[in-house]
Amino acid sequence: MSDQLQQLENEVIARAAAVTSLDDLEALRTEVLGRKGGRLSLVMAGLAKMPPAERAAFGRLANDAKSRIESALADARSRLENAAVEGSLARTYDVTLTAGPPRTGSVHILRRTLDDVVAFFRSRGFAIVTGPEVETEYYNFEALNIPADHPAREGLDTFYLDPGTLLRAHTSPVQMRTMEAYPPPIAILAPGKCYRRDSLDARHSFQFHQIEGLQVDRGITFGHLKGFVSDLCRHLYGENRRTRFRPSYFPFTEPSAEVDVSCGVCDGNGCRTCGGSGWLEMGGSGMVHPNVLRMAKYDPEIFTGWAFGLGVERIAMVRHGIDDIRLFVENDPAFLEQFA
Ligand code: PHE
Repeated sequence: MSDQLQQLENEVIARAAAVTSLDDLEALRTEVLGRKGGRLSLVMAGLAKMPPAERAAFGRLANDAKSRIESALADARSRLENAAVEGSLARTYDVTLTAGPPRTGSVHILRRTLDDVVAFFRSRGFAIVTGPEVETEYYNFEALNIPADHPAREGLDTFYLDPGTLLRAHTSPVQMRTMEAYPPPIAILAPGKCYRRDSLDARHSFQFHQIEGLQVDRGITFGHLKGFVSDLCRHLYGENRRTRFRPSYFPFTEPSAEVDVSCGVCDGNGCRTCGGSGWLEMGGSGMVHPNVLRMAKYDPEIFTGWAFGLGVERIAMVRHGIDDIRLFVENDPAFLEQFA
């Protein structure tokens, strides 16, 4: 019996030293040490038939053999585990491979649109100016001929911060700020953010961008306004796009006009994009109201001017066929990369 035990021990130690996977090692452990039918327990079963005098000695032999087998199995386990770790660290890299092009960001489509309009007017001698987004009630309303009880105040759905202070609802406050700072003649473009208490949907946002244009000089007429705005629309949308001026009302211009551009989808025949009218609204415009010129200490008997306020999101949407204003702020790379 001790020969049998010795043989088993030798065999297991040899096999444990040669095993190459943790699964094989586990199978070997079960084969030899398994509680039921394990080969060591089979050998030990012979113990019962031994004369009591030999039993104790054999029991000691068997226990010693068992612990040598267990340590051989434990050695094999740590050998295999170490090899697995080393293998994962020993990955090789081809340092001669060239890297792909780095992923870069790009200028946002709204900024591109703004830059384009700004470049158009800059090349025609207009100065680019900006004004504060946190504005006073005076510049947002009074200076634009909108007195306190005027219904247009309601229409602009303004965010108030404190009494007398608000988030500007349009870029028109920059008109008065500029006229106060510079004597006529002036020709400016004022891009910037505006805020209105609108609920968010595909066409409305509580924050959006406008571009304000203003020119005041001797002899400025509605024809100058039409010329600049029509040229801008052709520049933005293509030579075949028509512009129309629809009579409207703003307290700070007289006469006032809504600017429409012919729909590029149906070429003005009427379709779903333009709601069947053939025209798309771009913004408001008009001849600067004499009251506004007077408040700026410009003499309306000598100077006349035009002004417009166009929506930048609107321009980008019409130009690129974008159907939801929320796309501009969602920062989805799949959307933004189309304009990169
Ligand atoms: N400020 C007006 C608006 O936001 C647009 C406008 C600007 C109209 C300049 C006339 C002149 O609706």
